Amino acid sequence: MMAKTRAMITGVGAHLPDYILTNDELSRMVDTSDEWIMTRIGIRERRILKGPYGPSELGAEAIRELLQKTGTHPDEIELVICATVTPDHQFPATANIISDKVGITKAFSFDLNAGCSGFLFALATATQFVENGMVKKAIVVGAEKMSSIVDYQDRATCPIFGDGAAAVLLEPTTEEIGVMDSMMRVDGSGRVHLHQKAGGSVKPASHESVDAREHFIYQEGQPVFKAAVSNMADYAVDMMKKHHLTAADIAWLVPHQANMRIIEATARRMNLDPAKVMINIEKFGNTTAATLPLCLYDYESKLKKGDNIILATFGAGFTWGAIYLKWGYDGAEAARNNKPY
Ligand code: UT7
Repeated sequence: MMAKTRAMITGVGAHLPDYILTNDELSRMVDTSDEWIMTRIGIRERRILKGPYGPSELGAEAIRELLQKTGTHPDEIELVICATVTPDHQFPATANIISDKVGITKAFSFDLNAGCSGFLFALATATQFVENGMVKKAIVVGAEKMSSIVDYQDRATCPIFGDGAAAVLLEPTTEEIGVMDSMMRVDGSGRVHLHQKAGGSVKPASHESVDAREHFIYQEGQPVFKAAVSNMADYAVDMMKKHHLTAADIAWLVPHQANMRIIEATARRMNLDPAKVMINIEKFGNTTAATLPLCLYDYESKLKKGDNIILATFGAGFTWGAIYLKWGYDGAEAARNNKPY
């Protein structure tokens, strides 16, 4: 029998803007404190992209590093999917702008919006093209400038989000490694709890919409929190059961970084040793579609070929999902020059 072609991640690149927005600085902007933010969310600081730039700037930089690390020429790339909720423009797609900036001219590219699950949905999508042989090298990038839609007068949302980007290269393999399975779900009725009121075609920008502060994230924290805890953990646990994986079999959980309490609840439901959970929320906050690849970048040096990894997300939509993958390479050497964020 011919071995199945799978898609494996063969490299990771990342880029964060320099500006660090601390809890102390936020405390001078709204009525909050480092103590409240650390205990309720678990974020100490987040990065902010200043100036007239979009996430394509961060995404392009992440991909430059990815190409350099993996010794890949831009001409080899056949597909770029950019997961984002903060595209440079309504159109054209940020993926196209990124491709142009890094000199990728022989690919097709598009954006994918699945809220905080964007990277996971995009990875599952790119996997299909690699598995069926249509594409040999694909890039999946999560890139966000969340600060462009955060209301810095709203203390309930402004501590949460940060800007950043990270990207992975996906290539075919016939070894039993790479993306093994993905499970994804949407409940569109959840949109009432988390959305942006204006700026789309239903309510284009107007003086009134700007005055009403409707171009910012609208979030009802508690219903989102409850749905996140149950759905993210359910899917992570279901994925383990489906593949007969015990907690001991799992090397790493890569959870969406929205709230430390959501991450801890997911790990508990999986019965997982906290040391096996990738966490960098303290440094970067919630970078929406960039959280998962940013974790992979931060922990790349610790990853070993064959490691069983579960990715799990929940986000606006509502969207949620889990991916089970077997890591494809020993990360220590590849991560040697990773930037120390
Ligand atoms: O990635 C996309 C998906 N998003 C998420 O997963 C977010 C999920 N939700 C959450 O993480 C949490 O619900 C939040 C972090 C957004 C809020 O935490 P919470 O523990 O659910 O707080 P709450 O909304 O119930 O508010 C509790 C209190 C309120 O005061 P009162 O009404 O009890 O007097 C808030 O006004 O905390 C107050 N509060 C704050 N206090 C100090 C809200 N934000 C702040 C703040 N600093 N920044």
